[in-house]
Amino acid sequence: MSESVRSVSVDVPAKVNLLLRVGPRRPDGFHGLVTVFHAVGLVDRVTASDSDELSLSLHGPESRGLPAGPGNIAWRAAELLAAAHHRRPAVELSIEKRIPVAAGLAGGSADAAGALLACASLWELEGAELHSIATGLGSDVPFALRGGTALGTGRGEVLADVEVGASLHWVIAASSRQLSTPAVYAEFDRLHPQAATPDRSSATSVLDALRSGDLDRIARGLGNDLQEPALALAPELAATLRAGTEAGALAALVSGSGPTCVFLASGPEHAQTISDVVAASGTCRLAIPVQGGAPGAAAQTPHASR
Ligand code: C5P
Repeated sequence: MSESVRSVSVDVPAKVNLLLRVGPRRPDGFHGLVTVFHAVGLVDRVTASDSDELSLSLHGPESRGLPAGPGNIAWRAAELLAAAHHRRPAVELSIEKRIPVAAGLAGGSADAAGALLACASLWELEGAELHSIATGLGSDVPFALRGGTALGTGRGEVLADVEVGASLHWVIAASSRQLSTPAVYAEFDRLHPQAATPDRSSATSVLDALRSGDLDRIARGLGNDLQEPALALAPELAATLRAGTEAGALAALVSGSGPTCVFLASGPEHAQTISDVVAASGTCRLAIPVQGGAPGAAAQTPHASR
């Protein structure tokens, strides 16, 4: 008689940056940031199942071309967690990918966070130090664990709570191209050789707006220092941004290092309308309405099955 396999699944959200202020490159190669992370309801599902050895399979609409071995950040997450707990990374990982890759949505970070949490749960690791392992994997991985809306400083790994007085609705417009995050930061350096280190006070206006829940104030407070370099590398994004603005979005901006564009809507129906109009404009690969403030990996009860 064969024993059934134990497995744990975790949904992990994509993020957009409501504010992204970038400073000069630091000696460690990263840039100091003041950012407001915002998780949205577009998720990858990471499943960890008992196995004799580490393996990874990728499924779903956005999985094409991704490495299914040590080159995948989820694989490294399982290895690092196992090493930190002096055990073999004996787990079968399976990822259902819906978050576009190299898109400024932290999809790889989501998969790493999902793998950390699913493995920690499968291996019943009490008090696992997920945050420090997450930081070692990537600047956005700690936020993918946490979700919601958070102020990020340092290189994005130092997180603090942000109060949001309204439920926010967005449209995500995915591009048919990818942008490399290091390439966009390098273009930022080229365009701004004298960039000043951003101060937390640069987030005051958007944080106040978010607390108030006033959508027009929120729209005015959004900003992204990586938008200019992303547009320099992918000038066609200007047409996507314009399509969203013409469709009636309260605000239009590039998400993180791009090339995904995001549009603020006044509610779920408005988001659906903007999404339909932007999709029909032919200026993007895919437009999806999503709600903001989605829970992070660690905020969920993993789904277990035997
Ligand atoms: O931390 P993560 O692996 O996601 O970063 C990918 C790349 O993006 C880094 O190697 C670096 O080139 C750039 N980056 C940066 N400053 C940050 C975050 C990322 O320069 N705060």
